[in-house]
Amino acid sequence: MDTRLTTPRSVERVLQGQATSDGAGVRLTRLLTADLQRRLDPFLMLDLFGTDNPGDYIGGFPDHPHRGFETITYMLQGRMRHRDSVGNVGLLVPGSVQWMTAGRGVIHSEMPEQEDGAMEGFQLWLNLPGRSKMRAPWYRDIASSEVPEWQGAGVTVRVIAGAAQGVSGAVQREDTEPLYLDLHLDPGAVFEQPLPATHNAFVVVYRGELTIADTPVRPRRMAILANTPDSDGVALRAGPDGARAILVAGRPLKEPIAQYGPFVMNTQQEIFQAVQDFQAGRLA
Ligand code: FE2
Repeated sequence: MDTRLTTPRSVERVLQGQATSDGAGVRLTRLLTADLQRRLDPFLMLDLFGTDNPGDYIGGFPDHPHRGFETITYMLQGRMRHRDSVGNVGLLVPGSVQWMTAGRGVIHSEMPEQEDGAMEGFQLWLNLPGRSKMRAPWYRDIASSEVPEWQGAGVTVRVIAGAAQGVSGAVQREDTEPLYLDLHLDPGAVFEQPLPATHNAFVVVYRGELTIADTPVRPRRMAILANTPDSDGVALRAGPDGARAILVAGRPLKEPIAQYGPFVMNTQQEIFQAVQDFQAGRLA
């Protein structure tokens, strides 16, 4: 690797998230819960769904609205069909990404396109700055083959957003500079990623085990990385069985956050307006 960190970040906390259900009874683990929205600004939510039991996912996520932020769905296993009020239709398959900017409003559904087998993936919510919350909706399906990859010794990095080792990701965002990496590490492999000290960052392990600055991180756990001044990045070392994990980081917006379910704005007045617009059919 080109990089050599001098002051890698430590782990501030390791969290196991909250078991919950959303949509029509889809069981999932909410790793980034509402109480962490300030701490992990600009990220608002992270759900991990992963099950072999169709009863846990078959209901899917029927039509529901969003306003004021972006949703990023990354599939590891299974197939989900997306349809929205803008007219976009997409199929999420393993390794693919769906990046949706709700902007001023979208109504969409995300439904399983399978009746058995495993369903596994992440949905991340990325906030938009106040001046962009009412922009036109935007949508992109990113096929697995379109996710740029970097390979080093025992390490494969899938660059969904931002950049790693000189490889630019599939999506870039100026306001929050989101970094979204999927890391595949062989047993004992080490990966280092530079990060601005002011950017909020976390790691979620979904296979094997990782060590970050002497802190072990087990599967389905989220490690919040400390924002130590002068730190220059994060170093991860895979355990004896290797590891797979996502690394997410971004520049905080430092704006007020007003949320009511699927609407995330800056003020209560804007939330009231969003609910009114939805009820009046103005989000479709
Ligand atoms: Fe949604």
